[in-house]
Amino acid sequence: MAYDVADLSLAPEGKLRIEWADRQMAVVRSIRERFEAEKPLTGQRIGACLHVTSETANLCRTLAAGGAEVSLCASNPLSTQDAVAASLVEDFGISVFSIHGEDRDTYYSHIAATLDAQPTITIDDGCDVISTIHSERPELIGNLLGGMEETTTGVIRLRAMAEDGALKYPVIAVNDANTKCLFDNFYGTGQSTIDGILRATNILLAGKNVVVCGYGQCGKGVAARAQGLGARVIVVEVDPLQGLRAAMDGHQVMPIAKAAEVGEVFITVTGDRSVIRKEHFEVMRDGAILCNSGHFDVEIDLVSLAEMAAEKKRVRHETDAYSLVDGRTIFLLGEGRLVNLASAEGHPASVMDMSFANQSLCTEYVAKNHESLTVTVHRVPEEIDAQVALLKLQAMGIELDTLTPEQEEYLSSWHMGT
Ligand code: ADE
Repeated sequence: MAYDVADLSLAPEGKLRIEWADRQMAVVRSIRERFEAEKPLTGQRIGACLHVTSETANLCRTLAAGGAEVSLCASNPLSTQDAVAASLVEDFGISVFSIHGEDRDTYYSHIAATLDAQPTITIDDGCDVISTIHSERPELIGNLLGGMEETTTGVIRLRAMAEDGALKYPVIAVNDANTKCLFDNFYGTGQSTIDGILRATNILLAGKNVVVCGYGQCGKGVAARAQGLGARVIVVEVDPLQGLRAAMDGHQVMPIAKAAEVGEVFITVTGDRSVIRKEHFEVMRDGAILCNSGHFDVEIDLVSLAEMAAEKKRVRHETDAYSLVDGRTIFLLGEGRLVNLASAEGHPASVMDMSFANQSLCTEYVAKNHESLTVTVHRVPEEIDAQVALLKLQAMGIELDTLTPEQEEYLSSWHMGT
């Protein structure tokens, strides 16, 4: 079996971490048990490009239990947990190509190695596998039944491909399932982003001016958690509706040019580039802390920041101090990459359980229904979304109420009024 990981001797530690996460992943576990019995993925080769974490490990175990051969590479150079990668190879027979801190060339060579396994189904987090297949390995398209995409940024890239007529095989936008984006994006990004900032800096958020750029599901989660810890949250938005939501959620709303002058901690989570730029660094307070929780490291203009700095020094784990020529210092966390994965462990297992239950069930769906799937970006089938919600409720021991026949009738009729 081919693989490239940092150190296989880390496998025992990785196995413990994978088992720890699995305790919180009851939905994925129940799907794994069914897959073991039914083997719905027999004959499938899955090429996955995901954050190599203990939660991803439990997804890979589930796909392998269903009969698939799984190859995995990282979807970000800083998100790999090396012990988990080692255990996946050593204990679970998964072909892993990823090393924490790998450079750009190694990152892409690992995607290439994953594709050498000739996947029949892809799973992406950020669309790097699909774009590599379309631009560099088009010969693989003939084998591909379909793919899944995990994240908002990836879905945006895929929709652009589909609109250009460039997309050549069907993809399911797992990100857009209700049981994914309303939970993983809000609760997962919300908690893990704050976790990353706190692990990197150990600062007190109470009383701080925390600027959140972007008020989508992820930004809403980050802002809510920062507010809960006593921060004064300032939201930067371009969309009128989201700006209004932020204002009525109790946050101040202002343009980045104004927020730059008062912010003490800045978090970008927009999915767009150059959100915090040179003119903003120029007016920031001494000691401002910057980080990003959007998929790519393009939201903070790192080139300008480096140009403005007389010196850059690593002062704590994944924390760099940029000493500017005018005497101020600006701190950057996680090299401007996803702070929740670079400085912490990503979203907690309990919420990844829902995201990866969707991934597992959509993989099965593609294996069974590929002949009827058109070449476009598909929504997650409603039955899958509903099933994940029900299974999660069951796993949490929560019972729902049911409508009486009288209530059913009332809801389906238009005759009754005041
Ligand atoms: N994305 C965010 N958090 C994650 C995690 N813990 N595992 C895999 N992908 C993630």
